Amino acid sequence: QKDGFDWFMRKEIYEQPKAVADTLLGRYDTDGSLRLDELRIPEYELRLIDKIIIVACGTAFYSGLVAKYAIEHWTRIACEVELAHEFRYRDPILSGRTLVVCISQSGETADTLMAIRHASEQGARVLAICNTNGSTIPRESDAVIYTHAGPEIGVASTKGFTTQLTACYLLGLYLAQVRSTLFGDEIAVLMAELERMPQTIQRVLDEAEPVLELAADFADQPSVLFLGRHVGYPVALEGALKLKELAYIHAEGFAAGELKHGPIALIEDGLPVFVVVPPQGRDMLHDKVVSNIAEIRARGALTAVLAEEDDEAIPALADVWIRLPKVSTLLQPLAAIVPLQLFACELATRKGHDVDQPRNLAKSVTVE
Ligand code: M6R
Repeated sequence: QKDGFDWFMRKEIYEQPKAVADTLLGRYDTDGSLRLDELRIPEYELRLIDKIIIVACGTAFYSGLVAKYAIEHWTRIACEVELAHEFRYRDPILSGRTLVVCISQSGETADTLMAIRHASEQGARVLAICNTNGSTIPRESDAVIYTHAGPEIGVASTKGFTTQLTACYLLGLYLAQVRSTLFGDEIAVLMAELERMPQTIQRVLDEAEPVLELAADFADQPSVLFLGRHVGYPVALEGALKLKELAYIHAEGFAAGELKHGPIALIEDGLPVFVVVPPQGRDMLHDKVVSNIAEIRARGALTAVLAEEDDEAIPALADVWIRLPKVSTLLQPLAAIVPLQLFACELATRKGHDVDQPRNLAKSVTVE
């Protein structure tokens, strides 16, 4: 049932506050300890892990890219992220102390399944982050963290992505707890912020009007770019993927620091560019991304800037300011992706496309 929405996808975008809340439910005890009961890997083994490799495809891969920043920062365990279809063909270095984390909404993606089979054969421990109970990937993994997004019908993943992020944050904090790389009160502060994220996402949804108007303005654009840095970079990639798959528009996500190494040549008069800006004052990359906005604007780009609601640098630089609530840098993707999902959904609707069933795509890719 679409519950009055025009598309399942739009309904699923609006379900994200609940989906994230459900994924967090029952994980954090009143005594201040994180519990991941389904995990099934004993704590002493988690203490021995010396490398994490995240494998996934598409949107799930982008959630893994965000996870790398959080996991390395909180646990100091080296974390690589790899497209599942590349992983087993390059003879990856694995051992009993490698934790392979596979992320899959459906739990049936063939590329991801083949990657974890390869990892298991090589003796690595495999942990699945999955939304589908009893699907093949969690069944073939040593451990699982289920996301509780509920069924995702729209081919374009939305609540799948935000609940994957949530599960990755939980995993990072749990590993930090087990390995004592964060103090209990540091985990408590981060968990409190994570538990506020459903309300934060709800605010973003309630204030989404500007991005919907923007979709009307940009409906005839042949190309849209997305820029971000640090965790904003995977958000840019995911924003571009949503637009490609739904609106069939050329869209590219770039790391903002890479601009001057090539992509800035693409900037021309009237080219729409979304930019994800890190929090002001609390993130050293803020000013660098702001300079990038000035550089592309000087070359004629139309800038749609996702930045905190009180960011003083933005009024002078943004053609459109998509205001984000204040959150810490590592958690910002949970809020920042939502306007980009809505933008793609709205733009595709205006172009008359089937948003739930985009051309050439299947919800679950069960062949390699
Ligand atoms: O079910 P999975 O999470 O394993 O699927 C992975 C990708 O196929 C999936 O995220 C795909 O990229 C979506 N169409 C993105 O919206």
